[in-house]
Amino acid sequence: MRKKIVAGNWKMNNDLDQTIKLINELKSLITDSKIEIIIAPSFPFLKIAVDLTKDSNIEVVSQNVNDNSNGAFTGEVSISMLKSIGVNTTLIGHSERRAYYHENDELLLKKLNLAVENKMRVIFCFGEELSDRKSEMHFDVVKNQLKNTILKLDESSINNIVLAYEPVWAIGTGETATSEQAQEMHQFIRNCISENFNEEIANNIAILYGGSVKPANAAEIFEKKDVDGGLIGGAALNASDFFNIIQANS
Ligand code: PGA
Repeated sequence: MRKKIVAGNWKMNNDLDQTIKLINELKSLITDSKIEIIIAPSFPFLKIAVDLTKDSNIEVVSQNVNDNSNGAFTGEVSISMLKSIGVNTTLIGHSERRAYYHENDELLLKKLNLAVENKMRVIFCFGEELSDRKSEMHFDVVKNQLKNTILKLDESSINNIVLAYEPVWAIGTGETATSEQAQEMHQFIRNCISENFNEEIANNIAILYGGSVKPANAAEIFEKKDVDGGLIGGAALNASDFFNIIQANS
């Protein structure tokens, strides 16, 4: 059985007080859960977030990680640093990292390989831009993103990977892919995994949808067969909205 997951990507939001407040609010709402619940606060607050969520069902993950093990990389954070504070999962390849920090497939593959080597679980994000969809190139673009990264990994490492399909045109825009568009792409992604690895791996990998998921549209998207949950941005900053989205996937 595949895992159901709802993950909140807080991006560059929330200072220390806001981080503590939101975690406490979430803890009082989420008393018991059958699905995996994840939050990704900013680097400075990961340790306190780990401590605050210790006896809860919430896992704290990082939004990014560097592609080197250690050394002279000013301003960067390594896998071993994260692991040393109890963070064992990281996002890699978010579209904002790709767009604003020029992270390309080559760099993302390096990050993936290092994460796999160090047994860090990865939520790997990818998705097409609006122009790709308008020119009906979205399947080709997504396939290429996978081919250059995830599909190059060793079969044995795939069980430590969660996929997050996030069409760039739907992120932070209020515009969501329809549940049919999400299902169609998720099925396509699962087929790519199956062709490259095997059916069992394809059936076991969780594929999340991200892009303007909110309480009002979450249930419709999550009920699709190949959608295993969501990566939530804006709506994850509000405890009751995030909780309602979790409920929609439970
Ligand atoms: P959004 O962000 O829910 O605000 O569209 C999703 C994401 O970037 O992961």
